[in-house]
Amino acid sequence: MGDLSSVQKRIRDLAAEKDVIILAHNYQVPEIQDIADIVGDSLVLALKARNVTQSTILFCGVDFMAESAKALSPEKRVIHPVPDSQCPMAHMVDVEGLQSYREEHPGAPVVTYVNSTAEIKAHTDICCTSANAVKVVRSLKEDEIIFVPDSNLGAYVQSQVPGKKVHLWPGYCHVHNDITTDQILQAKKDHPDALVMVHPECRMDVIDLADKVASTEGMIRFSASSDGKEFIVGTEEGLVHRLEKEVPGKIFHRLETAVCPNMKKITLYDVLKALENMGPTVELDPEIIERNKAPLERMLAL
Ligand code: 13P
Ligand code: SF4
Repeated sequence: MGDLSSVQKRIRDLAAEKDVIILAHNYQVPEIQDIADIVGDSLVLALKARNVTQSTILFCGVDFMAESAKALSPEKRVIHPVPDSQCPMAHMVDVEGLQSYREEHPGAPVVTYVNSTAEIKAHTDICCTSANAVKVVRSLKEDEIIFVPDSNLGAYVQSQVPGKKVHLWPGYCHVHNDITTDQILQAKKDHPDALVMVHPECRMDVIDLADKVASTEGMIRFSASSDGKEFIVGTEEGLVHRLEKEVPGKIFHRLETAVCPNMKKITLYDVLKALENMGPTVELDPEIIERNKAPLERMLAL
C-alpha cells in the first residue's frame, strides 16, 4: 500500500486525473483533512457541494452529508467511500413518527437539522445546520415549531429564541451528549486560562459553562479572533487538527473521550480505493432529491 505520504500523493494525482473534488468534514482523520480540497463544517460543505465545477464529489463525512451533496448537485457523481459511516442521530427519527408529531402540533413547521436522513428531509419545511439553527428558527413567522432530530440543539435554539415554542424530538448525538459538566470543570481546573468552546449538540448544563457556543467552523473563527491564547475544545476531537493548523500560536485542549467512531470509519486507504473504483456512489430516488432540494435551498438562501 505504501506510506502515508505516497498514498496521499497518489490520491491527489488520481483526483486531478479523474476530475474529482474531495470534501472532508472537520471530524475526519488528519491525513484525510490534509488531502481534501475543502475541509469544513456541514454548512460550508453543503454550500460548496452545490457549486462545484468537477464532475465528481468524493465526500469524506457521514452518510447524511454525502446524501445532501447528491441532493444539491444531482447531476454530479457523489462518492461516499464507506457507506457504513453513518450518523446514529440521523436515524433516530422516522417518517411515521414525524407525521404523528406533526398531527400533535398542527400548523407548526418542521425544522430539520441536516443530521437526518434524506427521507426525513423530504418531509421537512426547512433545514438547518448547527451554524444557522437560531437564524433559521428566527426567520419563521410561526410561533410554534417542530425541531428534529437533535433535542440538545433544539433546546439551545429555544434558549436563544424565547418568543417561540420549540417542540423537541428526543434525538441526540451520543458523542456530544456524553460530554459532561465534570469533564469541562476538570479541564478548566487543569487549564485555568483557557476559554471553553462547546458545540450546541451538547447538553444545556454543559452549554451553560461555555464562553462560546459554536459550530465547528464557528470555533475556528472565534479562536482566531479572540484575545484568548488557550481553548478547551468541546466537540469531536478531529477539529483540533484544523485548529492547530489554521490558528497558529494558540493552544487547544481536546476532550479525549469526544471521538465519533462513525466519522473515523473512513481511512486514507478507503479514499484511495474509492478513487480507483469511482465508487461506492450515493444513489437517491429522483423524487426524494426533488423533495430534499426545497428545504435545503430554503436554508442556504438565508
Ligand atoms: P458542524 O460541523 O456543522 O458543526 O456539525 C457537527 C456534527 O456533528 C456533524 O456531524
Ligand atoms: Fe453524528 Fe455526532 Fe458523529 Fe456528528 S459527531 S456524525 S452528530 S454521531
